[in-house]
Amino acid sequence: KTLKDLGDLKGKRVLVRADFNVPLKDGVITDDGRIRAALPTITALREEGAKVILMAHLGRPKGQVIADYSLAPVAARLSELLGIEVPLAADTYGEDAQAKVAAMNDGDVVLLENVRFNPEETSKDADERAAYAKKIAALGEAFVSDGFGVVHRAQGSNYDVAADLPAAAGLLVEKEVTALSKATVDAERPLTVVLGGSKVSDKLGVIENLLDKADRLVIGGGMVFTFLKAKGLEVGTSLLEEDQIEKVQGYIATAEKNGVELVLPTDIVVNPGFPAGETPVAPEVVAADAIPADKMGLDIGPDSQKLFHDKIVDSKTVVWNGPMGVFEIDAFADGTRAVAQGLVDATAAGAFTIVGGGDSASAVRNLGFPEDGFSHISTGGGASLEFLEGKQLPGLTVLD
Ligand code: 3PG
Repeated sequence: KTLKDLGDLKGKRVLVRADFNVPLKDGVITDDGRIRAALPTITALREEGAKVILMAHLGRPKGQVIADYSLAPVAARLSELLGIEVPLAADTYGEDAQAKVAAMNDGDVVLLENVRFNPEETSKDADERAAYAKKIAALGEAFVSDGFGVVHRAQGSNYDVAADLPAAAGLLVEKEVTALSKATVDAERPLTVVLGGSKVSDKLGVIENLLDKADRLVIGGGMVFTFLKAKGLEVGTSLLEEDQIEKVQGYIATAEKNGVELVLPTDIVVNPGFPAGETPVAPEVVAADAIPADKMGLDIGPDSQKLFHDKIVDSKTVVWNGPMGVFEIDAFADGTRAVAQGLVDATAAGAFTIVGGGDSASAVRNLGFPEDGFSHISTGGGASLEFLEGKQLPGLTVLD
Protein backbone atom coordinates (compact mmCIF):
# COMPACT_ATOMS: atom_id res chain seq x y z
CA LYS A 1 0.00 0.00 0.00
CA THR A 2 1.22 3.45 -0.83
CA LEU A 3 0.29 7.00 0.22
CA LYS A 4 -2.63 7.25 -2.19
CA ASP A 5 -4.28 4.24 -0.51
CA LEU A 6 -4.70 6.35 2.63
CA GLY A 7 -7.30 8.58 0.95
CA ASP A 8 -7.82 12.23 1.82
CA LEU A 9 -5.41 13.22 4.56
CA LYS A 10 -6.42 16.86 4.94
CA GLY A 11 -6.44 17.77 8.63
CA LYS A 12 -5.48 14.21 9.60
CA ARG A 13 -2.75 13.38 12.09
CA VAL A 14 -0.32 11.13 10.23
CA LEU A 15 2.37 9.22 12.11
CA VAL A 16 5.45 8.73 9.96
CA ARG A 17 8.22 6.31 10.96
CA ALA A 18 11.43 7.62 9.41
CA ASP A 19 15.05 6.50 9.70
CA PHE A 20 16.97 9.43 11.14
CA ASN A 21 19.77 7.25 12.49
CA VAL A 22 22.46 9.61 11.23
CA PRO A 23 26.17 9.69 12.12
CA LEU A 24 27.04 12.35 14.72
CA LYS A 25 30.41 13.71 15.81
CA ASP A 26 30.38 15.84 18.98
CA GLY A 27 26.64 16.39 18.53
CA VAL A 28 27.01 17.52 14.89
CA ILE A 29 25.45 15.51 12.06
CA THR A 30 28.23 14.42 9.68
CA ASP A 31 25.94 13.02 6.95
CA ASP A 32 22.30 14.17 6.69
CA GLY A 33 21.48 11.92 3.70
CA ARG A 34 18.82 10.02 5.62
CA ILE A 35 17.09 13.22 6.72
CA ARG A 36 17.04 14.63 3.20
CA ALA A 37 15.73 11.32 1.89
CA ALA A 38 12.64 11.68 4.12
CA LEU A 39 11.71 15.13 2.79
CA PRO A 40 9.59 14.05 -0.23
CA THR A 41 7.15 12.15 1.99
CA ILE A 42 7.00 14.91 4.61
CA THR A 43 6.42 17.52 1.91
CA ALA A 44 3.79 15.44 0.11
CA LEU A 45 1.85 15.01 3.36
CA ARG A 46 2.14 18.69 4.25
CA GLU A 47 0.91 19.66 0.81
CA GLU A 48 -2.15 17.49 1.41
CA GLY A 49 -2.79 19.43 4.62
CA ALA A 50 -1.87 16.58 6.98
CA LYS A 51 -0.34 17.08 10.43
CA VAL A 52 2.95 15.19 10.21
CA ILE A 53 4.12 13.42 13.37
CA LEU A 54 7.60 12.01 12.84
CA MET A 55 9.13 9.22 14.86
CA ALA A 56 12.58 7.71 14.63
CA HIS A 57 15.41 6.12 16.57
CA LEU A 58 18.99 7.24 17.04
CA GLY A 59 21.62 4.68 17.98
CA ARG A 60 20.95 1.89 20.44
CA PRO A 61 20.25 3.50 23.87
CA LYS A 62 18.69 0.18 25.04
CA GLY A 63 15.55 1.60 26.62
CA GLN A 64 17.37 4.29 28.63
CA VAL A 65 16.92 8.05 28.26
CA ILE A 66 20.44 9.18 27.34
CA ALA A 67 20.99 12.82 26.31
CA ASP A 68 23.61 11.91 23.69
CA TYR A 69 20.97 9.91 21.83
CA SER A 70 18.41 12.71 21.73
CA LEU A 71 16.94 13.55 18.32
CA ALA A 72 17.47 17.28 19.02
CA PRO A 73 20.13 17.70 16.27
CA VAL A 74 17.74 16.02 13.83
CA ALA A 75 14.87 18.37 14.77
CA ALA A 76 17.21 21.32 14.17
CA ARG A 77 18.34 19.99 10.77
CA LEU A 78 14.75 19.23 9.74
CA SER A 79 13.74 22.79 10.67
CA GLU A 80 16.51 24.12 8.42
CA LEU A 81 15.69 21.85 5.50
CA LEU A 82 11.92 22.38 5.66
CA GLY A 83 12.16 26.08 6.48
CA ILE A 84 9.67 25.71 9.34
CA GLU A 85 10.05 25.15 13.06
CA VAL A 86 9.97 21.39 13.82
CA PRO A 87 9.43 21.07 17.58
CA LEU A 88 10.88 18.03 19.35
CA ALA A 89 8.57 16.39 21.91
CA ALA A 90 10.39 15.42 25.10
CA ASP A 91 8.94 11.90 24.95
CA THR A 92 7.53 9.50 22.38
CA TYR A 93 3.89 9.18 23.49
CA GLY A 94 3.71 10.85 26.91
CA GLU A 95 2.31 14.19 28.08
CA ASP A 96 4.63 16.37 26.05
CA ALA A 97 4.07 14.41 22.83
CA GLN A 98 0.29 14.61 23.38
CA ALA A 99 0.39 18.35 24.08
CA LYS A 100 2.57 19.10 21.06
CA VAL A 101 0.37 17.04 18.78
CA ALA A 102 -2.80 18.68 20.15
CA ALA A 103 -1.34 22.10 19.32
CA MET A 104 -0.61 21.21 15.64
CA ASN A 105 -2.18 23.00 12.70
CA ASP A 106 -2.61 21.47 9.25
CA GLY A 107 0.81 21.21 7.53
CA ASP A 108 2.74 21.35 10.81
CA VAL A 109 5.52 18.87 11.60
CA VAL A 110 6.45 17.54 15.05
CA LEU A 111 9.27 15.09 15.86
CA LEU A 112 8.80 12.66 18.74
CA GLU A 113 11.83 11.87 20.91
CA ASN A 114 13.92 8.73 20.23
CA VAL A 115 11.57 5.73 20.24
CA ARG A 116 14.38 3.56 21.63
CA PHE A 117 14.27 5.51 24.91
CA ASN A 118 11.30 3.19 25.59
CA PRO A 119 12.37 -0.38 26.47
CA GLU A 120 9.17 -1.74 24.85
CA GLU A 121 10.22 -0.48 21.39
CA THR A 122 12.71 -3.30 20.90
CA SER A 123 11.13 -5.81 23.30
CA LYS A 124 11.10 -9.46 22.22
CA ASP A 125 7.71 -9.79 23.95
CA ALA A 126 5.17 -9.19 21.18
CA ASP A 127 2.34 -8.38 23.66
CA GLU A 128 4.45 -5.78 25.43
CA ARG A 129 5.38 -4.21 22.10
CA ALA A 130 1.78 -4.24 20.90
CA ALA A 131 0.51 -2.48 24.06
CA TYR A 132 3.19 0.18 23.64
CA ALA A 133 2.43 0.59 19.92
CA LYS A 134 -1.22 1.28 20.82
CA LYS A 135 -0.11 4.26 22.91
CA ILE A 136 1.85 5.65 19.98
CA ALA A 137 -1.00 4.92 17.56
CA ALA A 138 -3.36 6.97 19.75
CA LEU A 139 -1.47 10.07 18.60
CA GLY A 140 -2.37 9.57 14.93
CA GLU A 141 -5.11 8.62 12.51
CA ALA A 142 -2.91 6.99 9.86
CA PHE A 143 0.57 5.45 9.71
CA VAL A 144 3.21 5.87 7.02
CA SER A 145 6.27 3.63 7.03
CA ASP A 146 9.09 5.60 5.44
CA GLY A 147 12.13 4.44 7.42
CA PHE A 148 13.57 2.05 4.85
CA GLY A 149 16.67 1.58 7.02
CA VAL A 150 14.58 -0.18 9.69
CA VAL A 151 12.24 -2.34 7.60
CA HIS A 152 14.35 -5.39 8.48
CA ARG A 153 13.39 -4.90 12.15
CA ALA A 154 10.07 -5.89 13.74
CA GLN A 155 9.91 -3.15 16.37
CA GLY A 156 7.09 -1.20 18.01
CA SER A 157 7.19 2.01 15.98
CA ASN A 158 7.76 0.51 12.54
CA TYR A 159 5.96 -2.84 12.77
CA ASP A 160 3.39 -3.18 15.56
CA VAL A 161 1.92 0.29 15.07
CA ALA A 162 0.92 -0.68 11.52
CA ALA A 163 -1.66 -3.06 12.96
CA ASP A 164 -3.50 -0.25 14.78
CA LEU A 165 -3.96 2.32 12.01
CA PRO A 166 -4.57 2.50 8.26
CA ALA A 167 -0.98 2.00 7.08
CA ALA A 168 1.01 2.54 3.89
CA ALA A 169 4.55 2.83 2.58
CA GLY A 170 5.97 6.32 2.13
CA LEU A 171 7.68 7.61 -1.00
CA LEU A 172 11.17 6.66 0.19
CA VAL A 173 10.23 3.05 0.95
CA GLU A 174 8.49 2.86 -2.44
CA LYS A 175 11.56 4.25 -4.20
CA GLU A 176 13.98 1.92 -2.39
CA VAL A 177 11.92 -1.18 -3.11
CA THR A 178 11.59 -0.27 -6.79
CA ALA A 179 15.32 0.43 -7.16
CA LEU A 180 16.57 -2.61 -5.26
CA SER A 181 14.15 -4.87 -7.13
CA LYS A 182 15.49 -3.52 -10.40
CA ALA A 183 18.95 -4.67 -9.35
CA THR A 184 17.92 -8.15 -8.30
CA VAL A 185 14.68 -9.41 -9.81
CA ASP A 186 14.63 -7.55 -13.14
CA ALA A 187 18.31 -6.65 -13.62
CA GLU A 188 19.58 -5.69 -17.04
CA ARG A 189 22.77 -7.62 -17.78
CA PRO A 190 25.65 -7.78 -17.21
CA LEU A 191 24.87 -7.44 -13.49
CA THR A 192 27.97 -6.67 -11.45
CA VAL A 193 27.89 -6.82 -7.65
CA VAL A 194 30.74 -5.10 -5.82
CA LEU A 195 31.17 -6.07 -2.18
CA GLY A 196 33.56 -4.66 0.39
CA GLY A 197 33.58 -3.81 4.08
CA SER A 198 35.47 -5.46 6.85
CA LYS A 199 33.73 -8.79 7.40
CA VAL A 200 32.77 -11.53 4.99
CA SER A 201 30.49 -12.93 7.71
CA ASP A 202 28.25 -9.83 7.29
CA LYS A 203 27.83 -10.57 3.60
CA LEU A 204 27.34 -14.35 3.53
CA GLY A 205 23.61 -14.12 2.79
CA VAL A 206 24.11 -11.61 -0.03
CA ILE A 207 26.85 -13.67 -1.64
CA GLU A 208 24.76 -16.83 -1.41
CA ASN A 209 21.71 -15.15 -2.91
CA LEU A 210 23.60 -13.44 -5.70
CA LEU A 211 25.79 -16.36 -6.77
CA ASP A 212 23.04 -17.52 -9.10
CA LYS A 213 21.89 -14.05 -10.16
CA ALA A 214 24.96 -11.89 -10.78
CA ASP A 215 27.20 -12.16 -13.83
CA ARG A 216 30.17 -10.83 -11.94
CA LEU A 217 31.17 -10.53 -8.29
CA VAL A 218 33.90 -7.99 -7.45
CA ILE A 219 35.37 -8.28 -3.97
CA GLY A 220 37.47 -5.77 -2.01
CA GLY A 221 37.68 -4.35 1.52
CA GLY A 222 38.75 -6.24 4.63
CA MET A 223 36.67 -9.24 3.59
CA VAL A 224 38.85 -9.88 0.55
CA PHE A 225 41.67 -11.33 2.65
CA THR A 226 39.51 -14.29 3.58
CA PHE A 227 39.01 -14.84 -0.18
CA LEU A 228 42.75 -14.56 -0.86
CA LYS A 229 43.51 -16.98 1.98
CA ALA A 230 40.83 -19.35 0.65
CA LYS A 231 42.78 -19.38 -2.61
CA GLY A 232 45.92 -20.40 -0.74
CA LEU A 233 47.61 -16.99 -0.53
CA GLU A 234 49.25 -15.46 2.55
CA VAL A 235 47.66 -12.26 3.87
CA GLY A 236 50.16 -11.03 6.49
CA THR A 237 48.41 -9.37 9.45
CA SER A 238 45.36 -8.34 7.39
CA LEU A 239 41.83 -8.93 8.64
CA LEU A 240 41.03 -12.61 8.34
CA GLU A 241 38.04 -14.70 9.36
CA GLU A 242 39.58 -18.16 9.71
CA ASP A 243 36.20 -19.73 10.43
CA GLN A 244 34.81 -18.56 7.08
CA ILE A 245 37.62 -19.86 4.86
CA GLU A 246 35.89 -23.13 4.05
CA LYS A 247 32.63 -21.39 3.23
CA VAL A 248 34.43 -18.95 0.97
CA GLN A 249 36.13 -21.86 -0.81
CA GLY A 250 32.62 -23.17 -1.46
CA TYR A 251 31.59 -19.79 -2.92
CA ILE A 252 34.61 -19.75 -5.19
CA ALA A 253 33.66 -23.21 -6.48
CA THR A 254 29.98 -22.26 -6.94
CA ALA A 255 30.94 -19.09 -8.80
CA GLU A 256 33.01 -21.18 -11.19
CA LYS A 257 30.23 -23.73 -11.63
CA ASN A 258 27.59 -21.01 -12.26
CA GLY A 259 29.80 -19.07 -14.65
CA VAL A 260 29.92 -16.05 -12.29
CA GLU A 261 33.12 -14.10 -12.88
CA LEU A 262 34.84 -13.58 -9.53
CA VAL A 263 37.07 -10.50 -9.59
CA LEU A 264 39.66 -10.17 -6.80
CA PRO A 265 42.35 -7.50 -6.41
CA THR A 266 45.73 -8.17 -7.99
CA ASP A 267 47.58 -5.68 -5.79
CA ILE A 268 47.11 -4.36 -2.28
CA VAL A 269 48.12 -1.24 -0.33
CA VAL A 270 49.75 -2.45 2.87
CA ASN A 271 51.00 -0.72 6.00
CA PRO A 272 52.90 -1.99 9.05
CA GLY A 273 49.63 -2.22 10.98
CA PHE A 274 46.52 -0.17 11.45
CA PRO A 275 47.56 3.47 11.98
CA ALA A 276 46.34 4.77 15.32
CA GLY A 277 46.06 8.37 14.11
CA GLU A 278 45.37 9.74 10.67
CA THR A 279 48.95 9.31 9.47
CA PRO A 280 49.90 5.88 8.15
CA VAL A 281 53.51 4.94 8.84
CA ALA A 282 54.70 3.60 5.48
CA PRO A 283 52.03 2.53 3.02
CA GLU A 284 53.32 0.57 0.02
CA VAL A 285 51.82 -1.39 -2.86
CA VAL A 286 52.50 -5.12 -3.13
CA ALA A 287 51.16 -7.87 -5.38
CA ALA A 288 48.16 -9.68 -3.88
CA ASP A 289 50.18 -12.91 -3.85
CA ALA A 290 53.15 -11.29 -2.08
CA ILE A 291 51.73 -9.67 1.06
CA PRO A 292 54.61 -9.61 3.60
CA ALA A 293 54.02 -11.54 6.83
CA ASP A 294 54.31 -8.40 8.98
CA LYS A 295 52.13 -6.10 6.85
CA MET A 296 48.43 -5.39 6.86
CA GLY A 297 46.33 -4.82 3.72
CA LEU A 298 44.25 -1.63 4.03
CA ASP A 299 43.15 -0.87 0.46
CA ILE A 300 43.21 -2.30 -3.04
CA GLY A 301 46.20 -1.18 -5.15
CA PRO A 302 46.29 0.95 -8.32
CA ASP A 303 46.12 -1.98 -10.82
CA SER A 304 43.10 -3.37 -8.98
CA GLN A 305 41.50 0.08 -8.92
CA LYS A 306 41.71 0.18 -12.71
CA LEU A 307 40.53 -3.42 -13.03
CA PHE A 308 37.51 -2.85 -10.74
CA HIS A 309 36.67 0.42 -12.48
CA ASP A 310 36.72 -1.26 -15.92
CA LYS A 311 34.60 -4.21 -14.81
CA ILE A 312 32.04 -1.81 -13.33
CA VAL A 313 31.87 0.34 -16.45
CA ASP A 314 31.37 -2.80 -18.54
CA SER A 315 27.98 -3.46 -16.84
CA LYS A 316 24.33 -2.59 -17.34
CA THR A 317 23.46 -2.93 -13.65
CA VAL A 318 25.80 -2.38 -10.70
CA VAL A 319 25.14 -2.91 -7.01
CA TRP A 320 27.82 -1.82 -4.58
CA ASN A 321 27.94 -2.38 -0.84
CA GLY A 322 30.95 -1.79 1.39
CA PRO A 323 34.14 0.29 1.07
CA MET A 324 37.26 -1.14 -0.60
CA GLY A 325 39.63 0.04 2.13
CA VAL A 326 39.91 2.18 5.24
CA PHE A 327 38.58 5.18 3.29
CA GLU A 328 38.37 7.39 6.40
CA ILE A 329 42.19 7.70 6.09
CA ASP A 330 43.13 9.39 2.85
CA ALA A 331 46.09 7.07 2.09
CA PHE A 332 43.61 4.16 1.92
CA ALA A 333 40.68 5.85 0.18
CA ASP A 334 41.68 5.45 -3.49
CA GLY A 335 40.13 1.99 -3.91
CA THR A 336 36.75 3.22 -2.68
CA ARG A 337 37.14 6.32 -4.85
CA ALA A 338 37.86 4.19 -7.93
CA VAL A 339 34.76 2.08 -7.37
CA ALA A 340 32.59 5.16 -6.79
CA GLN A 341 34.02 6.70 -9.97
CA GLY A 342 33.30 3.43 -11.81
CA LEU A 343 29.63 3.68 -10.80
CA VAL A 344 29.50 7.36 -11.83
CA ASP A 345 30.99 6.50 -15.25
CA ALA A 346 28.68 3.51 -15.66
CA THR A 347 25.66 5.70 -14.82
CA ALA A 348 26.75 8.23 -17.43
CA ALA A 349 26.97 5.40 -19.95
CA GLY A 350 23.36 4.40 -19.22
CA ALA A 351 23.78 1.67 -16.58
CA PHE A 352 21.54 1.41 -13.51
CA THR A 353 23.74 1.83 -10.43
CA ILE A 354 22.97 1.37 -6.76
CA VAL A 355 25.03 2.29 -3.75
CA GLY A 356 23.83 0.06 -0.90
CA GLY A 357 23.58 2.19 2.22
CA GLY A 358 25.54 2.41 5.42
CA ASP A 359 29.27 3.06 5.02
CA SER A 360 29.32 3.12 1.23
CA ALA A 361 26.61 5.80 1.07
CA SER A 362 28.49 7.95 3.60
CA ALA A 363 31.77 7.28 1.76
CA VAL A 364 30.32 8.48 -1.53
CA ARG A 365 29.09 11.72 0.02
CA ASN A 366 32.15 12.32 2.19
CA LEU A 367 34.52 11.72 -0.73
CA GLY A 368 32.65 14.46 -2.59
CA PHE A 369 30.84 12.47 -5.31
CA PRO A 370 27.64 14.09 -6.58
CA GLU A 371 24.53 12.19 -5.54
CA ASP A 372 23.09 12.43 -9.03
CA GLY A 373 26.11 10.49 -10.34
CA PHE A 374 24.35 7.32 -9.15
CA SER A 375 20.94 5.93 -10.08
CA HIS A 376 20.12 5.22 -6.45
CA ILE A 377 21.87 5.66 -3.11
CA SER A 378 20.09 3.46 -0.62
CA THR A 379 19.40 4.76 2.88
CA GLY A 380 19.41 1.22 4.25
CA GLY A 381 22.46 -0.48 5.71
CA GLY A 382 21.31 -3.81 7.11
CA ALA A 383 17.94 -3.36 5.40
CA SER A 384 19.37 -3.09 1.89
CA LEU A 385 21.66 -6.06 2.53
CA GLU A 386 18.75 -8.19 3.76
CA PHE A 387 16.73 -7.09 0.73
CA LEU A 388 19.58 -8.21 -1.53
CA GLU A 389 19.67 -11.48 0.40
CA GLY A 390 16.12 -12.03 -0.82
CA LYS A 391 14.71 -12.08 2.73
CA GLN A 392 11.17 -11.14 3.69
CA LEU A 393 11.41 -7.85 5.58
CA PRO A 394 8.85 -7.51 8.42
CA GLY A 395 8.49 -3.74 8.01
CA LEU A 396 7.40 -4.32 4.41
CA THR A 397 5.29 -7.47 4.78
CA VAL A 398 3.26 -5.79 7.55
CA LEU A 399 2.06 -3.25 4.95
CA ASP A 400 0.66 -5.91 2.60
C1 3PG B 1 20.70 1.46 10.43
O1 3PG B 1 21.47 2.36 10.81
O2 3PG B 1 21.06 0.56 9.65
C2 3PG B 1 19.26 1.53 10.82
O3 3PG B 1 18.93 2.78 11.31
C3 3PG B 1 18.93 0.43 11.79
O4 3PG B 1 19.62 0.61 12.98
P1 3PG B 1 19.84 -0.65 13.95
O5 3PG B 1 20.81 -1.57 13.25
O6 3PG B 1 20.37 -0.09 15.24
O7 3PG B 1 18.49 -1.31 14.13
